[in-house]
Amino acid sequence: MSDRINELFSSISGKYDFMNHFLSMGIDKRWRAAAAAEAIKERRSYRILDVATGTGDLAIALAGEARRKGAAAKIAGMDFNTEMIRLAKQKISRFGLESEVLIEKGDAMKMKYKPCSFDVVVSGFALRNFDSLKVFSKELMRVLRPGGRFVLLDMAMPDSGISRSFFKADFKVIKLIGSVVQKGAYSWLVSSVSEFDKKKFAGILEKEGFTGVGITNLTTGLAFFVSGTKPKS
Ligand SMILES: C[S@@+](CC[C@H](N)C(=O)[O-])C[C@H]1O[C@@H](n2cnc3c(N)ncnc32)[C@H](O)[C@@H]1O
Repeated sequence: MSDRINELFSSISGKYDFMNHFLSMGIDKRWRAAAAAEAIKERRSYRILDVATGTGDLAIALAGEARRKGAAAKIAGMDFNTEMIRLAKQKISRFGLESEVLIEKGDAMKMKYKPCSFDVVVSGFALRNFDSLKVFSKELMRVLRPGGRFVLLDMAMPDSGISRSFFKADFKVIKLIGSVVQKGAYSWLVSSVSEFDKKKFAGILEKEGFTGVGITNLTTGLAFFVSGTKPKS
């Protein structure tokens, strides 16, 4: 699957930011801000990994949150897609964030980082693309330091009736607009969101040994993040 996903993101990279903000009516920015606020709380300094950083928006939200809270942050934004990385690097330099954010190539299924390298690991809208959530959970456990936290943001079908109906209506619009832009990519977005099981994923993380695993719904469940902690011993 990963080759297909990589090709898919190469095909939409140039339109990715515009389509994100357009299709979500700008709410995606608020969702990333909520995940960043959850990631950066009480520490004075952070080593953070943004897995599958794409064009870097979550890494940028984290850098902004750290500055607002007076914390020092060193953020690694990692992605396997060359085109997305190129755009992320451009954006980081446009925002003047080179001293905080380092964009680099890597695979979420086989991370190049040493064990216990990060205080916090985040990802945004990427879980649905991974070949194996079990492998990802193992990698998450390996690269987090004991006591380190994760905040994983994504979209799935909401639990409640009204939000589900809204989602289904929105899906039709996304498919229609997506068919003009890049058909395969946007039908993949719709099917992967419909099929993603956030509770099952939380169960995988618990089974891996993380504690305090919880799901926080955003905008009545249109998006969510799963957060939790690597035990200290
Ligand atoms: C929907 S985009 C999300 C980008 C960004 N996190 C955001 O908040 O907009 C998904 C990203 O996941 C990346 N990706 C998918 N599978 C990956 C993997 N196994 N390793 C690294 N990156 C991956 C894709 O290249 C793409 O940039």
